[in-house]
Amino acid sequence: MMEKIVSLCKRRGFVYPASEIYGGINGFWDYGPLGVLLKNNIRNAWWRAMVECPPIGPDGHPIEMVGLDSSIIQHPRTWEASGHVGGFADPMSTCRQCKKLFRSDHVADMLREAEWVKSLAEGLGLDESGAGAVDIGRLRQWADRKAKKVAPGLALVRAFVPTLAAIEAALAGTPSPGLTPLLALVAAAPPPAAPCPACGGDLTEPRAFNLMFESHAGAIQDDANKVYLRPETAQGIFLNYKNVLDTSRVKVPFGVAQIGKSFRNEVTPRNFIFRSREFEQMEMEWFCHPDEARTWYEFWKHERMRWWLSLGVSSENLRFREHDPDELSHYSKMTVDIEYRYPFTAPDFGELEGIAHRGSFDLTQHQTHSGQKLDYFDQELQLKLKAEGRPDDEIKAKSRYIPNVIEPASGLTRAVLLLLCEGYAEDASRASPVYLRFDAKMAPIKCGIFPLVNKDGLPEIAEKLYLELRGRHACEYDAKQSIGKRYARMDEIGTPFCVTIDGQTREDQTVTLRERDTAAQERVAIDRIPALLAERLG
Ligand code: GAP
Repeated sequence: MMEKIVSLCKRRGFVYPASEIYGGINGFWDYGPLGVLLKNNIRNAWWRAMVECPPIGPDGHPIEMVGLDSSIIQHPRTWEASGHVGGFADPMSTCRQCKKLFRSDHVADMLREAEWVKSLAEGLGLDESGAGAVDIGRLRQWADRKAKKVAPGLALVRAFVPTLAAIEAALAGTPSPGLTPLLALVAAAPPPAAPCPACGGDLTEPRAFNLMFESHAGAIQDDANKVYLRPETAQGIFLNYKNVLDTSRVKVPFGVAQIGKSFRNEVTPRNFIFRSREFEQMEMEWFCHPDEARTWYEFWKHERMRWWLSLGVSSENLRFREHDPDELSHYSKMTVDIEYRYPFTAPDFGELEGIAHRGSFDLTQHQTHSGQKLDYFDQELQLKLKAEGRPDDEIKAKSRYIPNVIEPASGLTRAVLLLLCEGYAEDASRASPVYLRFDAKMAPIKCGIFPLVNKDGLPEIAEKLYLELRGRHACEYDAKQSIGKRYARMDEIGTPFCVTIDGQTREDQTVTLRERDTAAQERVAIDRIPALLAERLG
């Protein structure tokens, strides 16, 4: 299914491989005319839900939230304080034969999808999981005919005679070893070592690989001028926490929200735009009293799930997953992911957004590294405690503190993928056998406006309607091709409504209003269209 979605995205102008005319560049994508509209719709919905119209807090009053747009390049010491220079690394292995790099913890998944592993299973007549008895004659034939092409790095190809003899001996006791032990045998690499997903060669031991892209600010390219492209938008918010407090009217608890590009030199960018090297994040840092952090963590966990559901994502495809203590990031006291059932993880789920309780880690780190005081004096709390008659030392200890942070962090580009996967539908009986069932709010184009034929005064009526509607909704006027083809194209790009002007329109001022999901058509007065669309698009 992913291949079909990627192909639809390319064909209809949602997402293109970056630098395609030069053969592409791994891990980078360009968003085409429809992709940018879809991305903007998600961005605007998030901004509205977070900054312009933030949720009502547990006390029944609207919470305080402001926006920020910080620089992608910050002082390099930012990343020392945040822990990214020392710790933002993935384990990486290199293939000794084809020299390709892999994220060590992705190798097992990649092997399951590897072309040569599929070819091996097919050649031996095994099922997808690798179950079944291995016939040594078929294995010899596969090594001779196929493996040289699809897995030239495999020990069975490079050292055929001794490897085959070792396999024969091993199979004598266990004729149906299963996939992972079989791969170990053909690669002559006993687990936990695994063969290269690309060529079957030997992988090196995992080495830590820092994911930050480096550059230099200024003309001299030395270490003193080294800078980093931000790997998360969050740190820009921590650096500006004091500025925001001093220049706006917010008081703790409050949030600062930001949407912007982030960069990670991912070892194995994968699964289309799911894991890319340049991507956009939607992050919010919620600054609160340490005693209230748990309450706000629960609040944001549920608010964020509610928001994803409001985009029309089915609740069956979303779930929470609390992180085990051993998988928590260095800054996190507790984290829950909102996960989605992507086609490439199904029936399992993959990360969409993380909600982390970061404690006071970030502000404490930046306070220590910058020497600037980042604590907060909570006057309201001081007055409250005084009124309650609390002892002076308790009042002092409680009313000056470094706020804790709850952080909902999600990927905007990953959300584009989510809506494409969620909307993708197949129906062989339709003019377009695949179509996108976007929620109307998210659809890049809300309404297609078509004169049935490009003559007889119909284009003039259609254009008048288009000019009236385009200020309110993203509309597209199209007078080319047959009406069936125009409907099919609109279905494929997920347009919820189409309006067709035909000969009858000139007689009785009615038009055909067509709805995408049901393909139902109704005849309505042309002057009712603006109100009908306003009502149905919400
Ligand atoms: N500030 C915390 C932070 O950055 P993260 O879990 O590393 O946390 C947050 O990233 C979100 O950003 C992820 O849930 C995911 O949606 C998105 N994201 C992270 N790496 C990505 C990548 N390489 N490509 C696309 N999206 C990515």
